Amino acid sequence: MNHKTKIALIGYGKMGQEIDALCRDSEVFEVVSISFKNNLPAQAGNDKLDLKGIAKADIAIDFTSKDVVLKNIEAVAKLGVNLVVGTTGWYKDLEMVKKLVTKYKIGFLYSPNFSIGANIFFKMIDSASKLFAKFPDYDVYGLEIHHKAKLDSPSGTALKIAEKIKGLKFTSVRAGRNPGFHEVTFDSSADGITLSHQAYNRSGFGKGALVAAEFIKNKKGIYTFDDVMK
Ligand SMILES: NC(=O)c1ccc[n+]([C@@H]2O[C@H](COP(=O)([O-])OP(=O)(O)OC[C@H]3O[C@@H](n4cnc5c(N)ncnc54)[C@H](OP(=O)(O)O)[C@@H]3O)[C@@H](O)[C@H]2O)c1
Repeated sequence: MNHKTKIALIGYGKMGQEIDALCRDSEVFEVVSISFKNNLPAQAGNDKLDLKGIAKADIAIDFTSKDVVLKNIEAVAKLGVNLVVGTTGWYKDLEMVKKLVTKYKIGFLYSPNFSIGANIFFKMIDSASKLFAKFPDYDVYGLEIHHKAKLDSPSGTALKIAEKIKGLKFTSVRAGRNPGFHEVTFDSSADGITLSHQAYNRSGFGKGALVAAEFIKNKKGIYTFDDVMK
């Protein structure tokens, strides 16, 4: 009997393919549906969500773009299927998404960054900023670098870090192939401290998204990766 967790992938770009490869090697997960897999013309309706396939899944995982993610969330919620969203750039619509999650009674988990290292990095920055808050001589600034195909700027990760630290602004670089670099510096006339996180590849994001999928499998309501870290 097959007890694997059934995953529907929405988006088959860099992250969709990463998660597909992880599932192929997994005894815990199997991919039962892929939407927007444009390089497979035999699959019906390549420009649409594979609603039939998604309905059979335990969890859908969306790594698409800010232009299509809200439509995807609504369609998956209507099917009553739990959803993990890694896509960034849509958080201004979070309140609307929360209403959909409540209305259709699904489990929903989102995060701008699923890597364990980045989530520990968030906690380190949180503690550092609390310590530096007592010392006004220290300025804080941020830098983030991503590959040239990344559409949103600043990154969702940078926005999450900046949410909590007064005065923090990020400079964004979009060039080359970097899968994700974030750096925060606390700087005074006497000295400075720089904390940084570098993703070496996309495996950390993919593994984290699958950990999130397992976490949300039998839950209802809205969660972030902070809940997984707890
Ligand atoms: N949370 C995290 O840990 C994390 C990590 C990495 C990336 N991300 C975010 O995840 C998202 C995807 O990243 P990626 O690197 O995988 O991007 P990508 O390589 O560009 O892949 C995006 C996928 O979504 C599809 N897509 C995009 N817009 C679409 C539309 N309007 N209609 C139908 N399909 C559409 C693309 O189809 P086409 O191939 O036809 O364009 C492709 O299959 C981005 O928002 C990125 O910032 C999050």
